[in-house]
Amino acid sequence: MVPRGWPQRANGCELNDRAGTRARRARGADEAPEEKRDSTSERSDDSAQEARGTANATHSTDSTDGKAHGRTASQASARILRSPPTGSVEDSSSALFPTGRQGPTPQSTTPIGGLRMSRAPGHVPVLVEEVVALFARVPAGVLVDATVGAGGHAAAILAACPQLAVLGIDRDPEALALAAARLEGFGDRVVLLHARFGDLGSVVADARAAGRGRWPTTGEVSTVVSGVLFDLGVSSMQLEAPDRGFSYRHEAPLDMRMDRTRAGRDAMAVLNEASEGELARWFAASGEQRFARRIARSIVAARPLVTTTQLAELVEGSIPAAQRRRGHPASRVFQAVRIAVNDELEELSGALPAALDLLGEGGRCVVIAYHSGEDRLVKSAFALAATGGCQCPPGLPCVCGARSVHRLLFRGAKKPSAAEIARNPRASSARLRAIERVVSSRGPD
Ligand SMILES: C[S@@+](CC[C@H](N)C(=O)[O-])C[C@H]1O[C@@H](n2cnc3c(N)ncnc32)[C@H](O)[C@@H]1O
Repeated sequence: MVPRGWPQRANGCELNDRAGTRARRARGADEAPEEKRDSTSERSDDSAQEARGTANATHSTDSTDGKAHGRTASQASARILRSPPTGSVEDSSSALFPTGRQGPTPQSTTPIGGLRMSRAPGHVPVLVEEVVALFARVPAGVLVDATVGAGGHAAAILAACPQLAVLGIDRDPEALALAAARLEGFGDRVVLLHARFGDLGSVVADARAAGRGRWPTTGEVSTVVSGVLFDLGVSSMQLEAPDRGFSYRHEAPLDMRMDRTRAGRDAMAVLNEASEGELARWFAASGEQRFARRIARSIVAARPLVTTTQLAELVEGSIPAAQRRRGHPASRVFQAVRIAVNDELEELSGALPAALDLLGEGGRCVVIAYHSGEDRLVKSAFALAATGGCQCPPGLPCVCGARSVHRLLFRGAKKPSAAEIARNPRASSARLRAIERVVSSRGPD
């Protein structure tokens, strides 16, 4: 059912597509052949950032936002999204950004955490055309952008998909402020929420129960969304913010928390308290760092660590010059520490099954990952969903009784084109995977 006040169902073309969808094999993937993984081309956010230099400042995504389609904020009768004081993420309803309240325009506010609201957001959305195409014909309803960031993907989706409204989530209130400014032209098609996607199921249930975002008034609490998008990792603005400690390129206290309103451990605590073994494991797994043990040993010997520069110099000194790869040797260590500080892999492991459960029939989940640890989680969660956990030998009919309600939209992962990487080097490590719910939780009629 289309929720009251939300855009109506798209045309019959979409319905035909959905009928076709039901006829396809739930376990099959039909849009693209398996792509060979190129692990050597994978680069961390930070090294891509370094490669980009200032280039992204010149790349605008204006053509995909509401204003580019001939609307101004007032013409679109936008309700300005204003950030109330952010509550704890557990109390998600208190952290809602109500769309019905008027407040000062974000541009009139002072800089937050090194980010100036009036500045055009510097984050260039990755694989944005592919993302929009994947959501173009999903059923009318709510799309959850679980990593709304500066709202680049959300703006493109809202502009291209009139049947969709967006519930945008981010754990970083500074990112939400940028999203609010960027998406204000879309009025009440957007609700922004300060929350972690690790709480996705309860965040959606609470938002719907609170009646914010015009959720359907009937139907299951689960299977209510038309799409879920995850664009993982950190944004360019987070990396570039000089005081946040995400990058070896800025001298700053070792912080790296995406949500500074929470009392969680920052990078300084993590680096000064973890055992040498733990550090080495993170660097090896998340940072894929060949010299993980050596770096961990140097850190433990040099404690206490306080600044990004200290960490960067320690890493540099731990890796023989001849063994240094392209980019700064600290980039992968910074990535590994950031992942540990923000529990990124745990968040993702919990969020993926929750996202798949939330999808209504024909709804799609799209994930863009930027390093192999993330991508492995996505690949295995999607494979499990698309096979229903079937244990039967490949190529033979299923006799184990597994039932799948999802299908992969293509095999393997889509990668950005060479042209996109040239425009936006941060995209170089991106891997996009997508899955669709083909059968409703109530079973076929
Ligand atoms: C790559 S950026 C997204 C950029 C966005 N797609 C755009 O076009 O502007 C990733 C965002 O996800 C947020 N994030 C990361 N982990 C999160 C989590 N567990 N829950 C909610 N937000 C998260 C970060 O704060 C960051 O703003």
